[in-house]
Amino acid sequence: MSLILAIETSCDETAAAIVKDGRTVLSNCVESQIQIHEKFGGVVPEVAARHHLTAINQVVKSTMEEASVKPGDLSHIACTNGPGLVGTLLVGLSCAKALSWAWSKPLIAIDHLFAHVCANYIDTDLEPPFICLLVSGGHSQVMKFDRFDNGQVLGQTLDDAAGEAYDKVARLLGLDYPGGPSIDRAAKTGNSEAFKFPEGVVDGYNFSFSGLKTAVLRKTEKLNGPLPVDDLAASFQDAVNRVLFKKSVKALKFYGLDKIVLAGGVAANSDLRNRFSEFAKSEPGVKIYMPPLKYCTDNAAMVGSAAHFMGEPANADVSVYSRSPYRKKSRQNKS
Ligand code: KG4
Ligand code: ZN
Repeated sequence: MSLILAIETSCDETAAAIVKDGRTVLSNCVESQIQIHEKFGGVVPEVAARHHLTAINQVVKSTMEEASVKPGDLSHIACTNGPGLVGTLLVGLSCAKALSWAWSKPLIAIDHLFAHVCANYIDTDLEPPFICLLVSGGHSQVMKFDRFDNGQVLGQTLDDAAGEAYDKVARLLGLDYPGGPSIDRAAKTGNSEAFKFPEGVVDGYNFSFSGLKTAVLRKTEKLNGPLPVDDLAASFQDAVNRVLFKKSVKALKFYGLDKIVLAGGVAANSDLRNRFSEFAKSEPGVKIYMPPLKYCTDNAAMVGSAAHFMGEPANADVSVYSRSPYRKKSRQNKS
């Protein structure tokens, strides 16, 4: 049996959770910094790190109290140690190391991307093998999991991540930060066929979103009068989600599997979720897993699940890293 205190501070959420045996969440506390960063239109790393520092102790205390768990009940302390913002990761890891030492509990360091995938084990009976579409603010990957403890990257974005494209397009349409949920909302009253945006033609299971982002920019420059924001949002969203869906299903069929798992902040997108739900209805035998919204965006419950299913005790000198070691080498285009 495992009873894990998990901590997550890779970006702008200070989060802690207690997770039992990888599938049962006893408490899940998230202190979001959205209101702090929205005036800047994005996360300011130094500000985020300072805020984590002031919030972390209280968030850990609240999650222990909410679960009615004492330090002696815990089997492990887990923490995200990358990829993410180095300064923010260090706050969580330092806290986890201190608690691990003070309470004599083994420390488990977790990769944030694998944690997103493991959100799908919470309250389900999911087991590998499966195809995973992992779409967050910093990463977009199609992965294949044959075992609990490892996954293979089949394809990934060659430039912007899907969430990054959502955030950038939202900004140029004048929508609120964070951009993904704003586009999701605006698109509900928009016509997705109003504009034809390119999907971005790339081989295999890879994606490219920077051309699409530029196409939306050019369109907004050509339009006269007030922007048809809802139609632009719906057409952009359709172009992104079309290709995410297509490549995931392609991988499912190629490898002869029957489960697709969605993970990461963009997996909260209502149109993306509908596409996969409809697909499951039309393909008996195919099962789609998608976490509830609170486990799609950053949280610590997923870290506790990953620690149970994928974690190994770490050495005391374990450190943080900013870039994913699982990301294949690719052209970088950070415009
Ligand atoms: O996984 P996440 O919380 O943080 C990272 O690990 O990056 O993902 C954040 C990303 C942001 O880009 C945000 O705009 C996007 O997920 N996002 C969404 C939605 N909710 C969050 N994108 C599209 N539709 C949504 N409903
Ligand atoms: Zn994340």
